[in-house]
Amino acid sequence: MAVSISRKRSKPSRKLETKQSYFCFTFLYNFLNRISITLLLLILIYIWSSFSTIITGNIIHVCFASRKLNNLYCLSAGTNPSLEIPTSIAKNSFTPPLQIEANATQHGKFPTPSTPYTVTSRDVNYNDKDEEIANAVKVVEEQLQLHRSWRSDKNYAACDGRGIYVYDMPSMFNKDLVGQCRDMVPWQDFCRYFSNEGLGEPIANLGKGWYQTHQYSLELIFHSRVLKHPCRVYNENEAKLFYVPVYAGLDILRWHFKNVSNDVKDTLALELMKWLERQRPWKNNQGKDHVFVLGKISWDFRRTNESPWGSRLLELHKMQNSIKLLIERQPWHVNDIGIPHPTYFHPQSDNDIVSWQLKIIRSNRKNLVSFAGAARPEAKDNIRSMLIDQCTSSYNNGKCKFLNCSSAKCDEAESITQLFMESEFCMQPPGDSPTRKSVFDSLISGCIPVLFDPFTAYYQYPWHLPKDHDKYSVFIDKKEIKQMNVNVVERLSNISSRERENMRRFIVYELLPGLVYRDQNSELEKFQDAFDITINNLLQRVSILEASDKG
Ligand SMILES: *[C@@H]1O[C@H](CO)[C@@H](O)[C@H](O)[C@H]1NC(C)=O
Ligand SMILES: *[C@@H]1O[C@H](CO)[C@@H](O)[C@H](O)[C@H]1NC(C)=O
Ligand SMILES: *[C@@H]1O[C@H](CO)[C@@H](O)[C@H](O)[C@H]1NC(C)=O
Ligand SMILES: *[C@@H]1O[C@H](CO)[C@@H](O)[C@H](O)[C@H]1NC(C)=O
Repeated sequence: MAVSISRKRSKPSRKLETKQSYFCFTFLYNFLNRISITLLLLILIYIWSSFSTIITGNIIHVCFASRKLNNLYCLSAGTNPSLEIPTSIAKNSFTPPLQIEANATQHGKFPTPSTPYTVTSRDVNYNDKDEEIANAVKVVEEQLQLHRSWRSDKNYAACDGRGIYVYDMPSMFNKDLVGQCRDMVPWQDFCRYFSNEGLGEPIANLGKGWYQTHQYSLELIFHSRVLKHPCRVYNENEAKLFYVPVYAGLDILRWHFKNVSNDVKDTLALELMKWLERQRPWKNNQGKDHVFVLGKISWDFRRTNESPWGSRLLELHKMQNSIKLLIERQPWHVNDIGIPHPTYFHPQSDNDIVSWQLKIIRSNRKNLVSFAGAARPEAKDNIRSMLIDQCTSSYNNGKCKFLNCSSAKCDEAESITQLFMESEFCMQPPGDSPTRKSVFDSLISGCIPVLFDPFTAYYQYPWHLPKDHDKYSVFIDKKEIKQMNVNVVERLSNISSRERENMRRFIVYELLPGLVYRDQNSELEKFQDAFDITINNLLQRVSILEASDKG
């Protein structure tokens, strides 16, 4: 069972100065079908935390660079089983914010964080590690199964005595952070994104219910919704579920691009712990009935000793019992649950949804496939460049449309939505982290997502996407792309129009209403949106846990 790991030290390299993040690591393992390098890194994390004895005596070496950091960082895990990886090699230093600003402006793109995700393999040996890999995947699938077992079949808010208590917290934990919108990141004024209770400014060109919503706005959106939820109670004794409206994603966002110490980045998280310790309901159940919505990816709250990126909020011992709803979960933490990234569409009525459904089902899709994204030239293992090559190759006769996000403004709702409405399929390769907001933008536009990594969606959103992913997506293993075994455009041409239409109907009629976050100031009668589904399932979980406590 031992994982054999070779020792390899990578030097900081000039080449890695740019904005991409990537990891490299060396160790022996065996490759299962569909198991990516990504998964393996995550498995290492899993093994460190859960199977510590297995790797006693071995050395694990993980290196990464990020767009925010000038150096290559290497993490070395020796016999220490904890996630607190002991050996520090590189000294942290920041890319000056001004340079990021220049690039961000130039690329019109929001830089994404370094995550322990995008992976480059070096000297990988394919040996017999089937068992660990299979175990790690099994654990993910068991967790998703558990999450799915909490799904409620109610299509209305069934309170049934299960009250939701929303803490009224000191403004330092939420409102004050919104108040810092002008200074959140150096190159952009966030204030306009925080208008309309987090929906941002309306986009008239796209019609009613469209807003310039920022991808990190979920904390505001959920908070304003939960305050109006019919199950909300004002007496904590009547509550079964406790909502903690802390905007922890905004908290760390304001530090990402500033040269501040780790202590500064953790200040609010530690204040939060102190504050929670004083709340009776928190102590009653050790936080088990508490829920947090975090509008950024899980890795942003799981800072390691080696990288200055993010806070340690989700690594704090006291945070382990509660439910954390995130746009990207850490796949081996059962209390991390993925919920849809917010899109630009926030319908104000059932009718808004129905007319949009009709519009996109009839849309003229003149491109077989499209890709809106930027290459990751420094991340050797990233398949984006290969996909761009395939997409733009004359061999594919213009069947693929590439929107170059290195030069075009890809965060503009109109251009993205139009492209996706004109495409049958939308390629969704991983970027700096496995998930992409673009997956949701494509589903909302009726474009069938083509996924290359199961962590992009399949292992993330148990409440909003069905287990049977063939119903709404096409999977092409990124390993096949790397080995140049597959022409994506050709593979997609082979899918019959009947199959496409079946998938599209499923996406548009079955999934779409449950993937949007409606306008907080309106009501839907017929449809349950992404928020309703989330709350119903949280309430269902309360009942199931209560029943099992009694039984
Ligand atoms: C900014 O872009 C330039 C050229 O495109 C690149 O050399 C530099 O490393 C980039 N810096 C950052 C912080 O992304
Ligand atoms: C960051 O702050 C530290 C301590 O104040 C300082 O030594 C360092 O030069 C700063 N780095 C940058 C890139 O500004
Ligand atoms: C995308 O744009 C960048 C920056 O303008 C350019 O360097 C690159 O060649 C473009 N890619 C393609 C495939 O056109
Ligand atoms: C597409 O279908 C043809 C005929 O069935 C087959 O020969 C070819 O290998 C298929 N191509 C891909 C990429 O699946």
